This record gives sequence, structure tokens and C-alpha cells, in this order.
Amino acid sequence: MSAIVHVESAASLHGVLRVPGDKSASHRALMISALAAGTSTIEGMSLGHDVQATGVIIEQLGAQRTVEDDVVTVDGPVDGLRVADAPLDCGNSGTTMRLLCGLVSGVTGLHHLVGDASLSKRPMNRVASPLGLMGAVIRGHGETVTAPLTVEGRPPLRAIDFRVPSPSAQVKSAILLAGLGADGVTTVREDVRTRTATEDMLRFAGVSVQSDDEGLGRVVTLRPARPVPRRWQIPGDPSQAAFFCVLGLIHRDARIEIVDVDGAPERTGFVGVLQRMGGDLVRSTDGSRDSLTSVSSTLVATEILASEIPSVDEVPALAVAAAAARGVTSFRDMGELRLKESDRFEGSMALARAVGCHVWSEGDDFFIEGLANAEAFRDFEIAAGLDHRIVMSAAVAGTAGKGCSIAGADTVQSSYPHFFRDLASLR
Ligand code: S3P
Repeated sequence: MSAIVHVESAASLHGVLRVPGDKSASHRALMISALAAGTSTIEGMSLGHDVQATGVIIEQLGAQRTVEDDVVTVDGPVDGLRVADAPLDCGNSGTTMRLLCGLVSGVTGLHHLVGDASLSKRPMNRVASPLGLMGAVIRGHGETVTAPLTVEGRPPLRAIDFRVPSPSAQVKSAILLAGLGADGVTTVREDVRTRTATEDMLRFAGVSVQSDDEGLGRVVTLRPARPVPRRWQIPGDPSQAAFFCVLGLIHRDARIEIVDVDGAPERTGFVGVLQRMGGDLVRSTDGSRDSLTSVSSTLVATEILASEIPSVDEVPALAVAAAAARGVTSFRDMGELRLKESDRFEGSMALARAVGCHVWSEGDDFFIEGLANAEAFRDFEIAAGLDHRIVMSAAVAGTAGKGCSIAGADTVQSSYPHFFRDLASLR
């Protein structure tokens, strides 16, 4: 993973894009289809390596899978999933590993889960603890329980009532997937409303799942059941659209439209942030899907709270927007960024620093003093550190500014294999 990509500055950027299928929904469609007895089809699936890893793993667990372009057919075994005879390789994908812990907790036997160098540093105790309360035994390294992991599936699991200590859709989802095979009603409480792909998709697959807002958070209850096969249609991934939204706004001559994107409120907080910064970012909605049109704008600084953009996936892109804005943008309560594919807290600051901004941090907050427009960006070099979102954010900054070189840019494959092709199509 050492490819260096040189990104040139663009004179103008115009076009319409369809970003890859939503990564969260793609993982879940594969897992839920593998649990169901019979044939499911999945259209518009993410073709990134992360989702491919999940696809290979469900086959190892006994499902059959055929892939034709972005349409996948999955046959879930009538007798249910079984333990694999080789380790389950989650690659770079935290979603695969954390959701899989929940899934295989309900499959009798000893499961071995491995990942790449980035994933092997990420904490798995956040799923190991609640799944342990349900009766699974999850072992890994050290206090934070890092991979390689062993998961001893011991159905039937005990139903639990669990408050997720810090907002995480992956933790919520791991518990809900385990809850499918529990001995009663599983309850997950969250203080911030995170993405609802698991709840929505399980409900669509016939499982009784109830969600009730509670203050700023939510209480989700699930009754044990086996999902039924479905035909899934995956919308575009809003977290991928975010890169092109930022690019359109900060480039001096741009109009970029991104069509067919999931419009769920838990996923589109970044749109409100960019509009608040003065961005000419127009959202039009058709059912549950959005089109986003992003036009060259003059941006001003703002204060961004982690709770506005649960899971904080869009922060590296927003850091590039902040670097092109006038004034100091504050990023508040961003500690969770340190635990992503790379330390995105440092990585977002490093990116803004690389284009020439003054940046600093205090505890879990960081601050970027913008340069007022992207034409003032310096050209720069950066290392991706096995983090696809750092690659794409750097490419956005280089395209709108004076170009850049990205070492390890091929890690973009984990979520968006055609990113550089789509970027080039706008020139
Ligand atoms: C995801 C949840 C997220 C997010 C990741 C995908 C998911 O993390 O960062 O890219 O599909 O559930 P959290 O578990 O921190 O919400």
C-alpha cells in the first residue's frame, strides 16, 4: 500500500456523480441476507474492499454469494450459519469486525477474526463487553481487546438492556444482531441518535424492532427472530458524497451534483454544517433519497459539535472546508476521531496544517484558522496511513488548491475504488 498519487489543481469542476452504494447498508444487507433462509438480492452495493471482506466472510460461514457488477445474490443456509474452518479476515473494516462479533456470537463454536495493521489497533472492547454480558466470550489483546480476536459463540444468548457508553452505530448493531438469537427482548439505549441502518433493515427483513426517541437519544428494542430473504436496494453513501460537496464549495469554479444519496438525518448532519458556513449546497429530496448540488461559495468559520455528525466520518472533509473558510472553526468533542482507521484527530489537523493553516487543539477539541479561500492553499505531501477518508480529503484539498501528493493512496479502495476516476470526470 505505498502508491503515491499526484493530484493536480483543477481549473474548473462540473458534472453529475453517483457515489458508491452506502457502505453501512451494504455490510448489513450481506449479513442479514446470510442469516435469512433462502435467496436475497442486493442492488447498488458498495464495491469497496471493506464490503468485499464481509462478502467473503459470509461465504466462509456457509452462505452462497454470486456477484454481477454491483448486484449480489446471497443464499442463506436453511440450517443457519456455521463456524468457518479458516480465520475471518476483516481487512481494514471496523464495521465488518464489530458487527461480525455480534453475528457470530450467536453461531456455536470458536471464530477467529483478523484484520490489517490499522484494524488491529482499534478497540474491540466496546463490543466485547456487551456481547460478554449476553454470554459470548470474546478474547483479544490487552485492555482494549484488539485483534486478532477469538469469539466463542454460545447460543442461546441472554437478552440484555444496555446503554451504549459513547455513541456508536457499530456497537448498537453488534448487540442487535446478537439479540436476534437471544432468549428475550434486547434493549439498546443511546444518548445520541446514530445511523439506523441495522434497525431499519432488520425491520424490512421481518424482525420486530422498535425505536423510540428519548431526549437527544433513542431506545431500540428487538425481539429474537430470524430475518427473511429480501430484495435490497442500496442508496448512495452520504459520507462519500461529503467529499464532493466540500470540493464544489471550496473550488472557485465548480458546480457538482451528487444524485441518489441516502438522506437519513443521522447521516447528513454535514450538509447543515456546510450550509451554516455559507455554502451554496442545495438538497432536493425524492422519497428517502437526496440529490446534493454544491456550487462555489465563500465560506465562514463555524463551531461543529461531534453530536451533529454522529460517527464523525465527515470530519476530515469538513476540516478541508474549514481550511478554506474565513475565521477559526472549532471542532468540539472529537475524541472518537482518534480511534478510526487512523488517528483522524491528528490527521485532520495535519491536513489543514499541510495546506498552510494555523491549527491547534485543547483536549478533545481542535481548531483550524482558515485561509479564506482554497486558492491560498499550499501544495503539499501527505501519507494516508491506511485511511481512505484521509486520502479523499487530501485529494479534495489538492484539487481545489495547488495540488498534492498522497502516499498510500490506494487505501481508497477500502470504500471507494473509483474515487480518482470520478474526481477526474469533473474536470
Ligand atoms: C458505521 C459506524 C460508524 C462509522 C463507520 C460505519 C456503521 O462508527 O464511523 O464508518 O456502519 O455502523 P460508530 O460505530 O462510531 O458509529
